[in-house]
Amino acid sequence: MRIAGEEARVSVTLSWAQGLDGSIAARRGQRTRISGEASLAATHRLRSEHDAILVGVGTVLSDDPRLDVRRAPGASPQPIILDAGLRTPLGSALVGRADQKPWIFAAASAAPERRAALEAAGCRIMSAGVDAAGRLDLAEVLAGLADSGIASLMVEGGGAVLVAFLESRLVDRIVVTLGPSLLGGYNPFTRGPAGAFPVDLDDPLISVLGADVVIDGVPRWPAPS
Ligand SMILES: NC(=O)c1ccc[n+]([C@@H]2O[C@H](COP(=O)([O-])OP(=O)(O)OC[C@H]3O[C@@H](n4cnc5c(N)ncnc54)[C@H](OP(=O)(O)O)[C@@H]3O)[C@@H](O)[C@H]2O)c1
Repeated sequence: MRIAGEEARVSVTLSWAQGLDGSIAARRGQRTRISGEASLAATHRLRSEHDAILVGVGTVLSDDPRLDVRRAPGASPQPIILDAGLRTPLGSALVGRADQKPWIFAAASAAPERRAALEAAGCRIMSAGVDAAGRLDLAEVLAGLADSGIASLMVEGGGAVLVAFLESRLVDRIVVTLGPSLLGGYNPFTRGPAGAFPVDLDDPLISVLGADVVIDGVPRWPAPS
C-alpha cells in the first residue's frame, strides 16, 4: 500500500483461518486449530513469500506462536509484534527464537525497564504513535518497516489486528482459510467499526486443500458514506 509522501512501499497480505461461522478461535484468547495439514503447509509457503510477518501482542500472549516456516521450504520472514505497552513475555517462543529475534512496535510511553529487558534479549524495539485508544498507528508502522527494507508483510492476526488493518484499508491481498466447523467462538468481524465493511474480494482464487477452502483475492473497499 502506497503511503502518501513516501517512496518506499510495503505490500500487505492479511491471512487468517476461520470456521464456517467466521470464528477465528473457540473463544478469544484460546489457541484453536482450525486448518488441516494441507492448508497449514500452504500458509507456511505464503509466509516464506513475505519479508515479514506480523501479529498483535494478544496473539503472542494466547497462542505463543513461532511464526517461522517449518512445514514448507523457504526462508522464515522477520517476525513483527504490535505491542504498545511491551507486554511480550521474555519467555515467549518469539523472543526465544535463535534465528530471528522479533521487532516490536511500542508506544513511546512503554516502560523503559521493559524496553531494556526485551532489547537485552535481542529484540529490536521500534516506535510508532498511538491513537486515543492506545492503538499503534498502522501507517507509521508500515513506514518504519519500509525504512528497514521490508517490502512485503503478512499479517496473521489476531482479531483486533485484522480488523484494524481492514479499517485502515492498508491491505493489498486477503487470504482466508475456511475450516469445516462451526466454532461458535471469537468472531472479530462482527465488532468491526461502522464503515469498515462490507469488503469484497475481486477475482478470488479458490482452492480446496484437504477439507479446507482457501479464498485468495484483492479487497474492494466500500465507498465512503
Ligand atoms: N485463526 C487465526 O488465523 C488466528 C490467527 C491469530 C490469532 N488468532 C486468535 O486471535 C485471538 C487473539 O486476538 P486478539 O484480538 O485478542 O489480539 P491481537 O489482535 O493478536 O492483539 C491485539 C493487541 O495488539 C495491540 N495493538 C497495538 N496496536 C494495535 C492496533 N493498531 N490495532 C489492534 N491492536 C493493536 C493491542 O495491545 P496493546 O494495547 O497492549 O498494544 C491489542 O490489544 C486468539 O484467540 C488467537 O488464538 C487466530
